[in-house]
Amino acid sequence: MKVAVVGSGYVGLVAGACLADLGHEVTLVDSDKEKLNTLKAGVVPIHEKFLPELVARNSRAGRLVFSDSLPEAVGKSLVIFIAVGTPAMETGDPDLSYVEEVVSVIAKHVDHYKVVVEKSTVPVLTHEQIRKVMLLNGAPAEAFDVVSNPEFLREGTAVQDFLYPDRIVVGVSNEKSASILRDLYEPLVQGAYCRRSDAVPASAGQNGKTEFIVTSAKSAELIKHASNAFLAMKISFINAVASLCDAVGANVEEVSKGIGADHRIGRSFLRPGIGFGGSCFPKDLTAFQLVARECGVNFSLLEKVVEINHEQRNRFLRKVRGALWTLKGKRLAVLGLAFKGGTDDIRESPAIAIIKGLLEEGAQVAAFDPAAMERTQSVLGQSIVYAETPYAACHSAHALLILTDWPEFKDLDLARIRREMRHPIVIDGRNMFHPEDMANAGFHYYSMGRTTPPAASSHPRGPVTPISPGLELQELNGSTTMTAAR
Ligand code: UDX
Ligand code: UDX
Repeated sequence: MKVAVVGSGYVGLVAGACLADLGHEVTLVDSDKEKLNTLKAGVVPIHEKFLPELVARNSRAGRLVFSDSLPEAVGKSLVIFIAVGTPAMETGDPDLSYVEEVVSVIAKHVDHYKVVVEKSTVPVLTHEQIRKVMLLNGAPAEAFDVVSNPEFLREGTAVQDFLYPDRIVVGVSNEKSASILRDLYEPLVQGAYCRRSDAVPASAGQNGKTEFIVTSAKSAELIKHASNAFLAMKISFINAVASLCDAVGANVEEVSKGIGADHRIGRSFLRPGIGFGGSCFPKDLTAFQLVARECGVNFSLLEKVVEINHEQRNRFLRKVRGALWTLKGKRLAVLGLAFKGGTDDIRESPAIAIIKGLLEEGAQVAAFDPAAMERTQSVLGQSIVYAETPYAACHSAHALLILTDWPEFKDLDLARIRREMRHPIVIDGRNMFHPEDMANAGFHYYSMGRTTPPAASSHPRGPVTPISPGLELQELNGSTTMTAAR
């Protein structure tokens, strides 16, 4: 099938590459020429597992092409996905002007029947506006259908989430467009894709079976917002439970396991931490609240979800103060800047918000992230030191703060970390380590909703490492990078 995907961001690029991998002929359109040139040169501008391989093999096979000409892409495609960004405005409403702009161009180039698919997350009833804009710009009513096909992929595992989804939701107004979308996704619905020898492998718990759910467009739009709001609610719920665990000395991991074993509740999204971030949950929750308010529906539960999420950052800062007393002049090592592990995305990252709080109190921060340092520099500039390795970040630190759940942090050499640090204090906002292991490694270890066992060291603050005179600040690619001379 000939498909156009407009917007080659996290959602559009993944959708385009995956649809091409299913065998479709995909044109990825973007207004950002620099981004297009990067993609044409075979460079994928985001950190996403399997994406470079998929882009490369489908570009080579001619199934994936990049273009800045929306009219041309519309002309040759049957299905047109709109995946441009819908960033939040100051009011909290999503900015839908990019969507409108794209739709008005599509409308002017509809020469035969097309399915216009809303992939970007938009408030309920947006499909009606899209239809109106299509008609106002001269598209004949019988020459198009508007379909809502929300995307549920998570950053970091986006390709596998796209190719092995729990469900595909299509919100339609007639059988014709539903059947075109069913054909488009056929290899996923019937499981043919996962049987291919060159298929991207599924991750644990994923299988080739996908439920294809056909609804009205209104319901599909609500399914997207309601799914994100529900998941965010689970996280705020467990974070509030973690606070209770802290207060009474219980272990949130035990509690989470105990409640998650009830299949009606489920185990996932019950990991406590420093709160949720990213480009979706915070923005979609606000947008969903506004929709409810406009419709006169009391959905104050959503306000509480956001409130608990914000409070979680303050709780973490209080933990840091509790462990270190004053922060002015303290050197803090930070591991993790991205809003979660596996991505270079820092949009609404709680790690960045926490670092800003630490800087305001006069602390010095040396940070390391496997993928998000470049993006962080555009936000935090030179107000922090960007370390080349996790160990360099820890050098002479009064404490280590873990702010993103990168799996590789679990494999760090704890003895080496401890040697680097001035004081062996770790405040883990993501519960990456077992409290007993950390105590045995000689750390004073604080985490979320779990008690702090006494550190194995006889010295109350562990051995003291003097500040190394060999600590160097280097200019690297215009950024300040800390390297510990060893
Ligand atoms: C997506 C969804 O679209 C958004 O609704 C959801 O809530 C989050 O995920 P994302 O893919 O993350 O957004 O957006 P972004 O990475 O900003 O990419 C959007 C792309 O659209 C950019 O490459 C941008 O250059 C392109 N764009 C934007 C256009 O091609 N034309 C425009 O008019 C505007
Ligand atoms: C989310 C939805 O999961 C996805 O379906 C939708 O399409 C886009 O929004 P994403 O934002 O990429 O995906 O990441 P997700 O894995 O959902 O994590 C969101 C935030 O919640 C992260 O900051 C993460 O660290 C946090 N989180 C997640 C927790 O704090 N605890 C958990 O148990 C799970």
